Amino acid sequence: MDKKILTVAIIGCGGRGKVYGNYMSKQPDKFKVVALCDVVQAKLNYSANIFSVEKENCFLDEKEFFKEKRADLLVISTHDRQHVRQAKIALKLGYHILLEKPISPNEDELHELLAEQRKYDKVVLVCHVLRYSPTFNKVKELLDSGVIGDLRLIESIEQVSWWHQAHSFVRGNSRNEALQSSMIMQKCCHDLDLIQNYAGAKCKSVYSIGDLSYFNKEHKPENTPDNCGTCRLKLTCPYSAEYSYITRWKEKGSPENQWPFNFLTNDYPLTEEKLRHAYENGPYGRCVFSCDNDVVDNQHVSMLFENGVKATLTMTAFTAGHGRIMTFHGTLGEIKFYGDDRPDAVHLLVFGKEPIVFNVDDIVSGGTGYDHGGGDFMLCQQLYDMINGNAQATTSLEASIESHLIAIAAEKSRKTGKVVEITHK
Ligand SMILES: NC(=O)c1ccc[n+]([C@@H]2O[C@H](COP(=O)([O-])OP(=O)(O)OC[C@H]3O[C@@H](n4cnc5c(N)ncnc54)[C@H](O)[C@@H]3O)[C@@H](O)[C@H]2O)c1
Repeated sequence: MDKKILTVAIIGCGGRGKVYGNYMSKQPDKFKVVALCDVVQAKLNYSANIFSVEKENCFLDEKEFFKEKRADLLVISTHDRQHVRQAKIALKLGYHILLEKPISPNEDELHELLAEQRKYDKVVLVCHVLRYSPTFNKVKELLDSGVIGDLRLIESIEQVSWWHQAHSFVRGNSRNEALQSSMIMQKCCHDLDLIQNYAGAKCKSVYSIGDLSYFNKEHKPENTPDNCGTCRLKLTCPYSAEYSYITRWKEKGSPENQWPFNFLTNDYPLTEEKLRHAYENGPYGRCVFSCDNDVVDNQHVSMLFENGVKATLTMTAFTAGHGRIMTFHGTLGEIKFYGDDRPDAVHLLVFGKEPIVFNVDDIVSGGTGYDHGGGDFMLCQQLYDMINGNAQATTSLEASIESHLIAIAAEKSRKTGKVVEITHK
């Protein structure tokens, strides 16, 4: 097939939809965004403006949008529980799909989507963006080289960080399992996907403990209101909206339109007045101890893989920094991986030898420069090549589904207190 410019439609013009739209519209020789759908007019207008999409190709109603095929590729970046329903319609219409993770928290839907993908034989690339990051791939390369002998154990921590938990998982869209999915699915399906890839086998059994231990009414200070705007603690509480959206915004150089501040309003450029008005009058000003959140703030998962590798994953809100840290224990050495924006990303510690450090700049010249360790950008590149028939997938829909099965098992274990065996179909 000759290389051509791929036309792109985006359904869900929120944070993630804009990320992919931005990368794609910066490569006009490869992609052209031609159609948009979002249920919020302001979001639709904003994306239509930045991606130069004609008004007649912008849809507020997905039924209208799905009346016909509008592009070669559909980016599905709506909320977790809408993904599979929309993907199935899109496959039937003949789209290739870039599908935000998680695919779905529902196991039946995972299998249904795989069956439809096989039936229509289109690309369905799940946004496990870290699989495309050069630093994460360096670790895989070292493991596969055998330099640390046989892998026995993986320890990993997902540092959500205190402000991110408060923004997304207490006040924001991802706070509630019924609205999105469990924390281990929505936040940690990346980690589980990486771990199964590093382990090099399917997961056999899972045990998990975890709870929503802090962001609840029990911990609300006495005589405080439900909104930070009038709270006596607004200048001292580290979770206050005043700190999260005004002080932090100023610390970041008062950006005109940057996550997470741009989630408070669609009125850009951002100003102190707009942000304060938004938090005082909207959901992001709610006291973190009186929201309708139910996803956990700390969880631990133990996994056993079919090849005997064992792994642990700890997810916690209570971290000063953010990102992933992983340690790989092999029979001849250890690898420590700092996937949290440290320049010295990978430390190779072969027993009895001098340590070797791989800096991000050594792994990818000039650094990754993009979100998710360069993964968001690299994924778009690979998607283009895959659709043009010039690249094999780094990871498949089948592999993405395997990692989702671990998340489903972990949640079941957390709720029942029992070890859960995973059945592979
Ligand atoms: N790959 C990653 O690392 C990563 C990071 C964050 C979020 N996510 C996932 O990406 C997805 C989107 O997250 P987000 O943070 O961009 O959320 P968001 O709320 O900013 O965006 C979702 C958008 O979908 C729109 N929408 C809702 N229902 C719709 C419908 N029926 N038709 C059209 N549009 C509709 C909403 O109005 C909103 O603009 C979620 O599934 C989330 O779990 C992935």
